[in-house]
Amino acid sequence: MTRQAPGTPAEFYDMMLAYKTTAMLDAGIELGVFDALAEAADAAPGGNGQAATAAGVAARLDIAERGARLLLNGLAALGLLESDGVTYTLQPGTAEHLVRGRPGYIGDVSKVMASRWEWDAFGSLAEAVRRGGPVVQENAETPTYGYWEQFAAFASTVAKPTAEVAAAYLAPWATDRPRLDVLDVACGHGMYGYTIAARHPQARVWSLDWPHVLAHANKHAAQLGLTDRVTTIAGDMFETPLGGPYDLVLVTNVLHHFSPERGVTLLRRLAGVMADDGLMVLVGFLTHDRPPAQDAAAHLFSVLMLVWTSAGEVHSEQTYQTMLRDSGFGPGHVSQAPSVPLSVIVAERQR
Ligand SMILES: C[S@@+](CC[C@H](N)C(=O)[O-])C[C@H]1O[C@@H](n2cnc3c(N)ncnc32)[C@H](O)[C@@H]1O
Repeated sequence: MTRQAPGTPAEFYDMMLAYKTTAMLDAGIELGVFDALAEAADAAPGGNGQAATAAGVAARLDIAERGARLLLNGLAALGLLESDGVTYTLQPGTAEHLVRGRPGYIGDVSKVMASRWEWDAFGSLAEAVRRGGPVVQENAETPTYGYWEQFAAFASTVAKPTAEVAAAYLAPWATDRPRLDVLDVACGHGMYGYTIAARHPQARVWSLDWPHVLAHANKHAAQLGLTDRVTTIAGDMFETPLGGPYDLVLVTNVLHHFSPERGVTLLRRLAGVMADDGLMVLVGFLTHDRPPAQDAAAHLFSVLMLVWTSAGEVHSEQTYQTMLRDSGFGPGHVSQAPSVPLSVIVAERQR
């Protein structure tokens, strides 16, 4: 979807102020403001629809009343709450998506999308543009990067739709295979591999990532009852022994961290541990041969790669095809995830 070009001062001011919206939403989630309002509504005589005051929210959360009042007014100004200036209730969408424990809850994703790591890196964007690379000492290429732990802990909800698209596409090929050994490279939360394992009882998954990230993958495997079919490999995907041979290798949301040349180095390494009839699955944003506004999510994401990596950016579909060809794979079949701007590319290893 192409964004409308801002033309008025008010529209530019809105862009300048956008970070304050992020900060207020994030603080509301972190402090449990939406949870407190939901509890107040549930506890009130008559149940739902009863309003809470700033003093009531402050007491529930053990925070300053002034802080509660000003934040609540700000959240009401953003449209997240209904308020007459004294009492506050959740708007329906806020009640559905920002109250912890409700089926539609997505608040934890804020720990990834509005994380202090991304925030810090974007804080030096102009200097990163001057240099052509990251300014922050700790970034996506730091092996002990705390963000990756946070991502593994809280991004599985976002990964689910794309993991399902990949698993559905692979199902006809995977179902009748007597053996389905899967290597999930830079697995993070592990959901791409585990979604396939949940569908196919013969599947075994090797989840590879940095050591501090794997505890979260293990937790997700346990929640899905898959622990006995999951092994972890801790270390650098460019260096650590990989085992194998694997029938399926997953490299999801990884190659945009690197130049195409580095991507080929990784893919060649992985081709070397695959079965003769193995499949490679790549997931990521794609750019196409068209104006950036038509691939907005991909180009916005590339700016994160500028502040975070020395040579990464979202690659074009053509670049992915070239990387696959140069690493010993056939042409990739590209499918688009329905609800997120991510593509799934599946390629056969060339014998
Ligand atoms: C954007 S996350 C992708 C996670 C998951 N594959 C997904 O699609 O959601 C990138 C992952 O790569 C891991 N990673 C980055 N560099 C790595 C390396 N050299 N070796 C192993 N893992 C690495 C990070 O720890 C992180 O979990």
